[in-house]
Amino acid sequence: MQYSPPTSLDGRVAVVTGGARGIGFETTKAFLENGAKVVIVDIDMENGHATSKELGVEFIHGDVTDAKFVAKVATDVQERYGRIDVAFNNAGIECRRRALDWRVPRIAAVDPDEISKIAGRRK
Ligand SMILES: NC(=O)c1ccc[n+]([C@@H]2O[C@H](COP(=O)([O-])OP(=O)(O)OC[C@H]3O[C@@H](n4cnc5c(N)ncnc54)[C@H](O)[C@@H]3O)[C@@H](O)[C@H]2O)c1
Repeated sequence: MQYSPPTSLDGRVAVVTGGARGIGFETTKAFLENGAKVVIVDIDMENGHATSKELGVEFIHGDVTDAKFVAKVATDVQERYGRIDVAFNNAGIECRRRALDWRVPRIAAVDPDEISKIAGRRK
């Protein structure tokens, strides 16, 4: 299978929910390393501030299950940064199914060419 070269995130603005720790924290680091500006959103005040200080990103405290809060975050970030290019909706999603329980046809149904076409639309 052929993969496209990694896309630079130079000048892009990313919002990472659950960015205070775990997958969100590591994704935030990866986005920063690739040139993006990142805003993290998290319910955990202590880790949020610690991550903000460690990585030099803006931290917005709140609960992403509150739709009004999420809408306000989107508006505020767009006002302050002029755009949102990436929304990594990582927080507040619970996975109740074991990975091995996913049936292969569901995974195989994802067409890599379609994904490439979609990804290629944004330069
Ligand atoms: N780690 C895994 O193996 C795995 C596997 C499948 C799915 N996931 C999912 O990926 C996501 C991240 O996983 P992780 O291991 O980094 O989890 P984690 O618990 O280490 O980090 C989750 C972060 O999200 C924040 N958060 C939780 N609920 C929130 C809310 N309502 N509003 C704002 N912030 C909230 C937490 O404070 C925390 O900082 C989770 O949704 C998890 O269910 C993880």
